[in-house]
Amino acid sequence: MFQPKYRPATLLVHQGKDRDPATGASTVPIYQASTYHHEDGVSGQYDYARSGNPSREQVEEAIALLEGGVRGFAYASGMTAIGSSLALLNSGDHLIASRDLYGGSWRFITGVLPQQGVTITLVDATDVNAVKAAITPQTKALFLETPSNPLFQITDLRAMVEIAKDNDLLTMLDNTFMTPLMQRPLDLGIDVTIHSATKFLGGHSDILAGLVTTADSGLAKRLKYFQNAFGAVLSPFDSFLLSRGIKTLKVRLETAQTGAQKLAERLQDHPAVGRVWFPGLADFQSRELHFSQASGAGAVLSFELKEESQVKSLLNSVKLPIIAPSLGGVETIITHCWSMSHAAIPAQDKLQQGISKRLMRISVGIEDVEDLWEDLEEGLS
Ligand SMILES: Cc1ncc(COP(=O)(O)O)c(C=O)c1O
Repeated sequence: MFQPKYRPATLLVHQGKDRDPATGASTVPIYQASTYHHEDGVSGQYDYARSGNPSREQVEEAIALLEGGVRGFAYASGMTAIGSSLALLNSGDHLIASRDLYGGSWRFITGVLPQQGVTITLVDATDVNAVKAAITPQTKALFLETPSNPLFQITDLRAMVEIAKDNDLLTMLDNTFMTPLMQRPLDLGIDVTIHSATKFLGGHSDILAGLVTTADSGLAKRLKYFQNAFGAVLSPFDSFLLSRGIKTLKVRLETAQTGAQKLAERLQDHPAVGRVWFPGLADFQSRELHFSQASGAGAVLSFELKEESQVKSLLNSVKLPIIAPSLGGVETIITHCWSMSHAAIPAQDKLQQGISKRLMRISVGIEDVEDLWEDLEEGLS
């Protein structure tokens, strides 16, 4: 196993194992097996694929190495990763979560957890005092996302960790937008880092996957127990694709980020656009805080059109981006947040959060940015 002394670009390529230990093959193969022979009736390193599989282990080791965790976990989707992390809570516990969350996380936290006896308070997590005020004797955890999706609110992770330490709370962070390449929350004291690896880590819009890691061995033991008990693990084939995607994360993300910066600046100057949210913009309101805890702006931006009618004409016009509720692929993806990524959130809550029908999100891919701009500009005219 490689030691974390290697720098991120090297870890991305070589991961935990850079060849198949059994054969020397240049990639860890797709171990398409559900169970393992027990020689002389004794279980070896692997006994049954739900408990362990070498292809899955490859990405589990990779996320732990990349984030600085002791152990990683790979699941069938980002939502399973989120649900499995929140399974650390028990009936009677209270959870504080950011209000501006990915729609599916919002649905799970507000719709499923209360049925399991966990009470919830949604807060503006950018307001440290609001988080403190929401704490009750039953509060056990904070669930955070920064930058938040789709309005790029930045939560002060160091302040959250301090509050958590003072009140004996677990901290969980969805790090999907930044990836471990740009934000390493465990280094700042966050307990559990979560990814929809469907997005930048996979990178090709061809798998659903979720990853979790922690630097706490006790938490890792509980997460492992639940992963095996619940069984929604990542398949060997999807693990292989994810491992392959992770190898090129740096070149993909850096190229996409450069494109996002250009598009954000040009959109900001476009007469059809009212407002742009992107941490790389010079006037982004939480720029200093964001760059105190992350090393890049990422490759996703949101913008609000001045007129609602422009949404339809833009979506009817664009040819290069796929119009879809996802992000992080090599191809540019444009999302109408109201009806796609955040459809699970009731209209009234969306409006309260500032998500209007005029809000669009773009996950910039690695196409030539001039082609993307020409395509967008045509749609905005
Ligand atoms: C920030 C974020 N977290 C979690 C998820 C859920 O991941 P998945 O779709 O892989 O279940 C998404 C999906 O869009 C997301 O954008």
